[in-house]
Amino acid sequence: MDLYTGSEAISRDELLSRVEGKSALIGLLTDTIDAPVLDAAGPSLRVVANVAVGYNNIDVDACRARGIIVTNTPDVLTNACADFTWALILAVTRRLGEGERVVRRQAWRGWALDYLLGMELRGKQLGIIGLGRIGHAVAGKAAAFGMRVAYSAKRPADVAGATQMGLDELLASSDVVSLHCPMTPETKHLIDRKSLLKMKRTAYLINTSRGPIVDEEALAWALRERLIAGAALDVYEHEPAVHTGLLDLENVLLIPHLASATTETRTAMADLAASNVLAVLSGEPPLTPVA
Ligand code: GLV
Repeated sequence: MDLYTGSEAISRDELLSRVEGKSALIGLLTDTIDAPVLDAAGPSLRVVANVAVGYNNIDVDACRARGIIVTNTPDVLTNACADFTWALILAVTRRLGEGERVVRRQAWRGWALDYLLGMELRGKQLGIIGLGRIGHAVAGKAAAFGMRVAYSAKRPADVAGATQMGLDELLASSDVVSLHCPMTPETKHLIDRKSLLKMKRTAYLINTSRGPIVDEEALAWALRERLIAGAALDVYEHEPAVHTGLLDLENVLLIPHLASATTETRTAMADLAASNVLAVLSGEPPLTPVA
């Protein structure tokens, strides 16, 4: 076994040199597993286990072509990610980031009737783009806040009281738009200038999926011009870099990719990745292969 223990993501060169001759690779979403990495591993490699539910960092076709199984970590992180989405929805609509910054720079002048007013959730529409496991779980918690749910997804889904809509209708009618679709060539920059212009000026955008689904340049423009009310981001186009146009805006909450970051969930994700490897190496079917 070869365990990388560095506190930052392994460098490409180190990954390429250390993967050689391995039978299994447990990697993180920060590791790009493409044909050169698979070639560097050589014919011994049988399984690539991603410690993440999203697997856009892995060239699945290149793995398939070499007979390598790819696994991810669905289910175990669903609840943590859904809770976290609601944390972002509440934080951005109630302006917690702005308020906290005011207090920390000792600029708070005291309670005032109209100070830092946000948007109430009750009676509003939550628009969910991508209704997989996490989207479902987010939808399931909406009733607690009195929100009705609309969703846009490839297939109709069984979510009590939720209305399926086309993307344009969902963007135009929702008060909070939350992204839960996977990152694919079709979803890259799904939220661009055009889609932002379709949103209500009072609406909020939440992204806990993958950064490149939102065109950050376009989002910075829309937020600066107040074309939407605010955004909360957990993921970025070029992590860990954040578009500089977002950094000095008050109406965006910027969080460092923490949606699944609870001790319980990260432990379960690591356990599941290890179980997938053990299953494949002992000739059993993997627990959670990617589709
Ligand atoms: C985190 O972003 C994941 O895909 O698990």
